[in-house]
Amino acid sequence: MRLRSGRSVTARTDIVIHPAKNLAGAVRLPGDKSISHRYAMLGGLAAGKTRLRNFSTGADCASTLGALAALGIVIVRGEDGLVEMEGAPWRAPRGALDCGNSGSTMRMLSGILAGQPFTAELTGDASLSRRPMARVIEPLSRMGARIEASAGGRPPLRITGRQLQAIDYRVPIASAQVKTAILFATLFAGGTTAVEEPMRTRDHGELALQAFGAELTRHGNRVTMTGGQKLRAIEATIPGDISSAAFFLCAAALFPGSNLLLDSVLMNPTRAALLDVLLGMGCRISVVNLEEHHGELIGMVSVAGAELKGATIAGALSAALIDELPVLAAIGPYTTGGIEIRDARELRVKESDRIAAVARNLRAMGAAVEERDDGLRVPGSQPLHGAEIDSAGDHRIAMAFAVAALRASGDTLIRGAEAAQISYPEFFTTLEALLER
Ligand code: S3P
Repeated sequence: MRLRSGRSVTARTDIVIHPAKNLAGAVRLPGDKSISHRYAMLGGLAAGKTRLRNFSTGADCASTLGALAALGIVIVRGEDGLVEMEGAPWRAPRGALDCGNSGSTMRMLSGILAGQPFTAELTGDASLSRRPMARVIEPLSRMGARIEASAGGRPPLRITGRQLQAIDYRVPIASAQVKTAILFATLFAGGTTAVEEPMRTRDHGELALQAFGAELTRHGNRVTMTGGQKLRAIEATIPGDISSAAFFLCAAALFPGSNLLLDSVLMNPTRAALLDVLLGMGCRISVVNLEEHHGELIGMVSVAGAELKGATIAGALSAALIDELPVLAAIGPYTTGGIEIRDARELRVKESDRIAAVARNLRAMGAAVEERDDGLRVPGSQPLHGAEIDSAGDHRIAMAFAVAALRASGDTLIRGAEAAQISYPEFFTTLEALLER
C-alpha cells in the first residue's frame, strides 16, 4: 500500500491496495461512533465530570465535540481516546455549528437544541447539505421548536429552542438518529413522550440515557419517557466500533485460512447482525468474554474465513445492517451464491448514494451487478480485477472497496481514500498490518 499524496489529514489521498494471500492477527478498535456521539452530547448536559475512554477517533465525533465546545462545554482530550467534559448550561454559539460530514451530529444535536433558550444554526459539508432533515424537523417542530431549513428540508438548519411539550410519535422511516433526537428533546419537554419505530433500530440512545440516570420504558418498538429528567455524569470505556470491525470481518471472511481476533468489540444485539450473516455464509465465528457496561454488551470475537456462500438481506435485517451493507455487497462476487440486498432505499441518502456507488465500483472491477431502487443483486462466483475506485467522499465506500481489492487480480487504486477518516482514520494502516502477501 502506498500513499499517493496527502500532506494534511484532509488532503485528497489515493491509496493503492495490492491483492493479499491471507489475513491474520489481532485488532483493538477505536470506540463506537454511535455511542461516542451520544455519550458526548449527554456528558455536555449531565451534572458533574464525564470521563470517556476509547472515544471514537473519527472526524464525525470530532464534529460533535467541536459543536459542544462552541456551545460552551469545556472538553479536554487526552491520550488513548480519553475525553473529559463537565456538563453545564449550554450558551448561544457565536457562529454556525459546523457538523462537517456528520448526519448524527446534526440530527441528534437538533433534539437538544430544540429545548435550549437560544437560536443556533447547524451547517455541514457538501454531502451533509444534501441529506434529508425533515425527518427531525417534523417531530421537533411538533414538540414546539422553531426550525428553518433550506428547500426540501435540507441543511443548514436554524433552530430556535423553547420549553417543549410531549408528543406521541410514530417514526415513518426507521432511524435511530431520529428516535434519539426525540428522546434527547424529551429532556426539555413537559409530559410523557412516546416514540414508536416501524422496526427495531439501534438502541444506544435509550441505553445512554439510562446510563446517565434517566428512566424510560421500552415495549417492543415503543419507547416512553417522562420529560424534564436530570442527568448525572458517567465514566465509561467506549466499546470498539462493530461497523469499523465489519471491514476486517469481511476481509477475513474472504480467506479460508484467515484468523482474526477482535478485542472489546460492541456486541449490542441491535448492531451485531453481521456476525449471524457471516455465520450463515459459512465463516467460523466465536464470541467470548462477554461483558456488559452501561447496558452495552462487549465481547472478544474471533473469525476464520471460508468458501463463502451467498446471502439475501431484506426487511428488518436491512435496517439492522444498514452501515455494513456496502462491504457485504462488495464481497458478493467472491461468494458462491451472490449477495442480494432489498428494502434498503435509505442507502441512497447516506453520506453518498451507496447503492449507486457500490454498483459503479463493482462494475469498474469487472462484476455484473443489478442495481435496484431499494438495493442490489450481486451475482456470485465472479472474479474481480483491480481498478480505479471512486470513494464518492464516503468513508464506508472507501473501506468496502479496499476489502474487495484484496482478492482481485492486480492492484486497485482507491481515489478519495481520506474519507476513511470520517469514522476510522487508522483503517488502512491497521488493515495493512494484518495482511499476508
Ligand atoms: C446511526 C444511525 C443510522 C446509521 C448511522 C448512525 C446512529 O442512521 O446509518 O451511521 O448512530 O443512530 P439512520 O438513523 O439515518 O438510520
